[in-house]
Parts: sequence; C-alpha cells; structure tokens
Amino acid sequence: MQMEKDIVVLAIETSCDETSVAVVKNGREVLSNVIASQIDIHKKFGGVVPEVASRKHIENINQIIQNALDEAKLTFDDIDVIGVTYGPGLVGALLVGISAAKALAFGKDLPLVGVNHIEGHVYANFIEYEDLEPPFISLIVSGGHTHLVYIKDYGEYEILGRTRDDAAGEAFDKVARALELGYPGGPIIDELAKKGNKDAINFPRVYLEEGSFDFSFSGLKSAVLNYLNSSKQKGIEIVNEDVAASFQQSVIEVLVNKTIAAAKKRNIETIAIAGGVAANEGLRSLMKYVCEKEGLILKYPSKILCTDNAAMIGSVAYYNYINGKIADLDLNGVPNLKLS
Ligand code: KG4
Ligand code: ZN
Repeated sequence: MQMEKDIVVLAIETSCDETSVAVVKNGREVLSNVIASQIDIHKKFGGVVPEVASRKHIENINQIIQNALDEAKLTFDDIDVIGVTYGPGLVGALLVGISAAKALAFGKDLPLVGVNHIEGHVYANFIEYEDLEPPFISLIVSGGHTHLVYIKDYGEYEILGRTRDDAAGEAFDKVARALELGYPGGPIIDELAKKGNKDAINFPRVYLEEGSFDFSFSGLKSAVLNYLNSSKQKGIEIVNEDVAASFQQSVIEVLVNKTIAAAKKRNIETIAIAGGVAANEGLRSLMKYVCEKEGLILKYPSKILCTDNAAMIGSVAYYNYINGKIADLDLNGVPNLKLS
C-alpha cells in the first residue's frame, strides 16, 4: 500500500471549535499536530456558537498553518498534498479551512484532498497503531455522531448502526448542562463518575429492537432530567457524582454490548473506538474488560487523537490521495456529509 516516495500531507481541520493543522508523513507519522481550541470562548455560552467559531478560525488559521510547518521543521516546499475536512460540521467553520486549503493548493500547485471528518476519527487509530489494518469494527462516538461501522478496507465502510436521535457526546453535554457542570460535559462527567456509585440510580438502557445496532440516547437524557426535577420537588439530595456515574454506566453499557455483538456477528476480532467520547475512561475500561473476556482485540487512540485534530485528517488525506481521490478547486463544505 505504501508508495515508494514519502508523501507529506499538510492537513487542515476547522469543522467545529478547534482550528487545527497537522503535518503527517505517509498517513501514519505525525510530524506536527497543532490544535487551537476555542473552548474557553464558547464555554460561557454553554455550547459552540457557529458564527463565533467561524470568526475565530479566520483569525487563527494562517498562524496555525505556519506553526504546524515550524513544528514539523518543514517549509511549503516539503509538502506534497493539502488535505482538508469538507464535512460534516458547521458550514461557516468548514469554509474557513476549505478556503485556506484551496488557496494553498492553488498557490503552491499541490493536489487538494477533501476529507470526511467522521472518517478522520476512525483513522486516528492508524496513527496510534502503526500496524493496524482493516478489517475491524469501529464505534465512532463524538459530539455530533454515533456510528457503528464495519471498516472493510481503507475508504470502504458498511454502516451497521447509528443514533436515531442524540449523539453520545451530545447526551454527555446535555446531562452536564442540566447538572450545571459546564461545557464540554463529557470530560467533567467522566471525572465525577469515578467518585460516584454507578448503581445508585437505575437509568434506562435503550437497546431498541432485537438485533438492532442503532442507538437512542434522548430517552436516557429525559430520564436524567426527570430524576433531577423529581428529586428537587421531593427535597431529595442530588449527588452529582452518583448521577454522573449512573448516567455514564447506562451509556457505556449499551455502547459496549452493541459493539461486541457487531464484532461477533461479523466474525471480526478487532474493535477500534474513535471520537471524543472514546476518551471516556469508563468506556475504555469496560470495553477493555469485555473484549478481553470475549477474546477480542481493542484499539483506541490517545486522548488528544480522540477529540478533533488535524492529524487524523492528514491520515485520511494520505489514503485518499494514494487511491486517486483528489478534489477540484470547487470543493465546497458539506455540513451533513455522510459516511459511505
Ligand atoms: O470528536 P469531538 O472532539 O468533536 C466532534 O466531532 O463532535 O467530540 C466532542 C465530544 C463532546 O460531546 C465531549 O463532551 C465528548 O466528546 N467528550 C467526552 C470525553 N471527552 C470528550 N465524553 C465523555 N468522556 C470524555 N472523557
Ligand atoms: Zn469530531
């Protein structure tokens, strides 16, 4: 699969609230991965404000590109391919990265490669594990997406299931908001859950129809809100740690059980989890425990590669490039881009 000559990709990711630029060699070796997070700005609004995100990307992008080259100790002359996320995501935010990428590709006469952000999350595993090869089953759990996917080969996927309502990360963020814990909620709930009792409150585990690999988290979110409201009305003390631990347990049990069932059904022995929620320590440890019990191999990226970053985009761009998937300069943002 590897080409004779090294291929160095400069990758740009601006789909949400991180302005990130990375330099990645041959799809697996990260020479730099600069991530400028806007979380502190969006925090006070309790979530990402799209217009603010776009403006911040514009302010940051040129400097972050330069920082990524500097950290990699390279110049534009060393770059072979420009990769950029073109969806899914916030359209205004995506367009900032796409415009910068097009300008570079045109100005430096380099091939432009469009990358699906969801694919990027999966490919973070290729960066983490240099020997990992498809096929495997991937659970992609982020703020906007929850997918269970059979990764047959590079760029070849079969979606086995997806959320019918909220994404897993969204459920974490909404529950954290109800508990007035701040944004983003996932990491805060993860920490609180370690100090709480996961059996304190019996929140629902939603499996949907027998054999379904789809997910649904909105009922669980309502159950948590109902629990908080009725406890307040009855004057029952709310222990945030217990709510966090019990809620998290409901989410991760369903995620783990469905992922294992999918691997068994497809007779695949490797599972790779991806996306912001894959940073969750409860999910990692339960998945690890069950995989060991079932004789399955578990892979997950380091935390910095789980949340949004351009290195994962650089990995996809490399594989797209060597497979001839090159974009034109009329590449546009596709906010609801699907994985196919
Ligand atoms: O992948 P990501 O950075 O952005 C999207 O593409 O959506 O994921 C962000 C999501 C947020 O919902 C955040 O709360 C969640 O990932 N998250 C976590 C953890 N770290 C981030 N959820 C649970 N536990 C964590 N440790
Ligand atoms: Zn993401």
